[in-house]
Amino acid sequence: MKFELGIIGAGNMAQAIIHGVLQAGLYQPQQVCAADPSDQRLELFRNTLKVQTNPDNAYVAANCKTLLLCVKPQQIADALQQIQPSLPAGILIISIAAGISTGFIEDFLTAGSSKKSTQRVRVVRCMPNTPMLVGMGMAALCSGHYATDDDLEQAAGIFRSAAKVMIVPESKMDAVTAISGSGPAYFFFLVEQMVKAGVLMGLDREQARLLAGQTALGAAQMLLGSEQTVVELRRQVTSPRGTTHAAINYLEANNWPIITVEAVRAAAKRSRELACQMNNPTN
Ligand SMILES: NC(=O)c1ccc[n+]([C@@H]2O[C@H](COP(=O)([O-])OP(=O)(O)OC[C@H]3O[C@@H](n4cnc5c(N)ncnc54)[C@H](OP(=O)(O)O)[C@@H]3O)[C@@H](O)[C@H]2O)c1
Repeated sequence: MKFELGIIGAGNMAQAIIHGVLQAGLYQPQQVCAADPSDQRLELFRNTLKVQTNPDNAYVAANCKTLLLCVKPQQIADALQQIQPSLPAGILIISIAAGISTGFIEDFLTAGSSKKSTQRVRVVRCMPNTPMLVGMGMAALCSGHYATDDDLEQAAGIFRSAAKVMIVPESKMDAVTAISGSGPAYFFFLVEQMVKAGVLMGLDREQARLLAGQTALGAAQMLLGSEQTVVELRRQVTSPRGTTHAAINYLEANNWPIITVEAVRAAAKRSRELACQMNNPTN
């Protein structure tokens, strides 16, 4: 087989994942080949990651041992249609598409195929996140019906190169998507508002950005390095009638805890809807 790892969809997440596996020395650039409709994206992958590229999904699928599907959920059916006829026997497919079940991919690739090789297609699903770009990602994985423990471990190895890895049953994937997949945006959104407040109070934007960003990083490191609960950690910096207390009181009085929980649940709901739309495209 020409390539150890093939990529379908040379977008942002693919870039983060490939950057991680190359940095970790898991594969050499010449062992990786990416496909994408955009010449610009392929050029970027060739120039910055030094990997092989090809505009033809079928070529990449036919020539790799493991295939990483990195297209948007709405693009997955087209991509699967394009790779299906050329899938080699024994290929492992890893999908990072939000809301797309392993069963959907297995059924799609099996339907209409006369080839034995695609009848028991091994699929692992993963929900990574963009902090993989800086080697600080979080990725949750689950296997489909036919993926083996070795397949799951192989997939985990790819994501471990730039993320912490968690194995979950597929039923938990919508929740994972809502917490860690979409999560970076929630923190950016919070920092965005903190920066706005900083500017309103007379700081310049760069100062406010550094103050908020470094605080987010420090808080996360304290949280992950501590045995204490997140509530205990929060209480330690919330003296009664102090400044933090004033802010937390205001957030609680304005339903921020409820709004946050509902917002995260909305992301999980959207993940379920995406899966439904794929199974019933007229919805
Ligand atoms: N971004 C996140 O934070 C995040 C986190 C976890 C999981 N994910 C999942 O990761 C996947 C990729 O997300 P992303 O943010 O990396 O998206 P993205 O940057 O849009 O990357 C997708 C790439 O695939 C290309 N593409 C479209 N149709 C294709 C086809 N048939 N064959 C090959 N390539 C095709 C797109 O080209 P065009 O732009 O020309 O369409 C684009 O370059 C999604 O399924 C998403 O659910 C994303």
